[in-house]
Amino acid sequence: MSNAKPSLKIAIAGLGVVGSEVARQLINRSDELALAAGKMIQVVAVSARDRSVNRGVNLDGIDWYDETHKMAERDDIDIIVEMIGGSEGVAVDLARAALRSGKHVITANKAMIAHHGAELAQLAEANDAHLLFESAVAGGIPAVKTLREGLAGNKITRVAGILNGTCNYILSTMETTGRGFEEVLADAQRFGYAEAEPSFDIDGIDAAHKLTILAAIAFGQKPDFSAVSIQGIRDVSSVDFTYANQLGFRIKLVGVAEPGLMPRMETCLLPLDSQLAKVNGVLNAVEFHGEPVGSVLAVGPGAGGCATSSAVLSDLIDIAAGRGGLPFGRSINTLADATAVENCAGPDKPFYVRLMVVDQPGVLATLTGILQKHSISIEGLLQQGRAPGNAVALVMTTHETSVVKLGIALDEMEKLPIVKAKPVAMPIMLADKEM
Ligand code: HSE
Repeated sequence: MSNAKPSLKIAIAGLGVVGSEVARQLINRSDELALAAGKMIQVVAVSARDRSVNRGVNLDGIDWYDETHKMAERDDIDIIVEMIGGSEGVAVDLARAALRSGKHVITANKAMIAHHGAELAQLAEANDAHLLFESAVAGGIPAVKTLREGLAGNKITRVAGILNGTCNYILSTMETTGRGFEEVLADAQRFGYAEAEPSFDIDGIDAAHKLTILAAIAFGQKPDFSAVSIQGIRDVSSVDFTYANQLGFRIKLVGVAEPGLMPRMETCLLPLDSQLAKVNGVLNAVEFHGEPVGSVLAVGPGAGGCATSSAVLSDLIDIAAGRGGLPFGRSINTLADATAVENCAGPDKPFYVRLMVVDQPGVLATLTGILQKHSISIEGLLQQGRAPGNAVALVMTTHETSVVKLGIALDEMEKLPIVKAKPVAMPIMLADKEM
């Protein structure tokens, strides 16, 4: 670009899949991005563990740092792009140091923002710096900006999302192929969707980090990961998909945040015709419900270098164009404590329950007796196949009931000799139908 506007100098910490893609985009498309940003965005420094890796981008002329924190000490750097990851350690030390020295920080680090977002936002405000994290939530979907800017004038009544592509891939593939959880997880690892150590994804932690951030922006509260209820997808079996389908549902890992309730990640049944039920494979989706807007749905790629770098570039352009804004949309001093939110799982709801029981006379009467004792009303029952004397799957759907009451009833059932495995219960989420 030939105009005389000063360029924005940035440093990228971490050159993994996303960091390398950000560098590639900034270097290879510099003129185009300068037009969008109103000034050149110049990568002047990078840092990563191994200098010898071929990252498919020419880093000649860019300063290399083995010690990441040294980049935060450089006076000529305007923005640190933190692509290291992890809720503690180098990433958070770098973010703190950068903000303290008045540098803007852009990060894809959902764990860091979910755990330390309030402290970092305070540092940003105190030092007149921006802290932006569009890429931390749902990859290429502009979920943060949608809430923080596009829907800023709304009273948000609900945010619900498919926030983890790995889980959505596993659940979709189990449903379409009839294969078991472990087998599909192994495939996901082979294709590079799931990490070798997959628990952050399949236990719902990665998605809960993202939900923590969305809830904070939606309801004007400090991000607090400890105030989120988390369930993953390990307990889902291939038979659940067959039964769920017969009942008109699809199984999804969904994050839900509603005002006054604990945000929750739950593996649940969604009506087949609902918007989120139609989002399959590695895609993510976020549904925003608010007044006066009604409902807004955003669907797109939630992970990977291209999708995530798109979000990082948009944050860079926002800062360059002078619209960095406040991290959570309002001053940190006005954000409520998330722990002040009532600690409960929300209103009563219907459940899908699967029990592996011995196929013999009287079993049903025993189980329904327990439900009756706890005032839990059955809506429907399914048992297919016959295996006299052996275990068969017995599926029940309940009327609206409290998760606490149901838990007590299922604990009682699990202790019976006729019940052969830990009962599986998943909420049936009907609110999504209101779209
Ligand atoms: N591992 C995440 C996913 C992407 O599968 O969606 C990064 O948060």
